[in-house]
Amino acid sequence: MESTHQLYRDLDRILLTQEEIEQKVREMGRKITEDFAGKDIICICILKGASVFFCDLIRQIDLPLSIEFMAVSSYGASTKSTGVVRILKDLDRSVEGKDVLIIEDIVDSGVTLNYLKGVMSHRGAKSISIVTLLDKPARRRVDLQADYSCFEIPDAFVVGYGLDYDEKYRNLPDIGVLSPSVYANN
Ligand code: IMP
Ligand code: MG
Repeated sequence: MESTHQLYRDLDRILLTQEEIEQKVREMGRKITEDFAGKDIICICILKGASVFFCDLIRQIDLPLSIEFMAVSSYGASTKSTGVVRILKDLDRSVEGKDVLIIEDIVDSGVTLNYLKGVMSHRGAKSISIVTLLDKPARRRVDLQADYSCFEIPDAFVVGYGLDYDEKYRNLPDIGVLSPSVYANN
């Protein structure tokens, strides 16, 4: 597999393989299907990092649902959060009275999701649940816990399966730790 992607050269190591991810996403889909039966669900994809996870996950949820996309400010060409969240692309439809699933790639400081939870609550969502692919609890700066988390990971900067560094590596099928030499000068 590795030989097909030259991007693998920039990784220190692979953290999660596509097989591991696929199995966990299937499990998560089943859990959500059980927990949300009979509810009026909107799945919100937080662009761009969650896009790959989102597309896989929604196909494992065996319930009627609608999808929405939202983009918020990201790190840019840096591996550290600025702590400031901005909405770059907002939802097309109202979340009022809906059971909202915010689907995110990773909870790091927790600042982004804390902000988004506040936005959904302010807009009158009936319930708000956070679904994340990855969780880096070591770096939390606000008190935020995901309702559904696929993998807890150590404090390292990771890329692949939607996650980027400077907009690259999103197309890697596995998740790996980026070599610090790649971002040493940023
Ligand atoms: P938070 O607000 O600090 O929790 O940041 C969440 C956002 O930071 C995620 O949606 C990612 O876009 C980005 N991020 C945090 N850690 C990583 C990482 O290890 N790799 C890639 N992006 C990350
Ligand atoms: Mg993101």
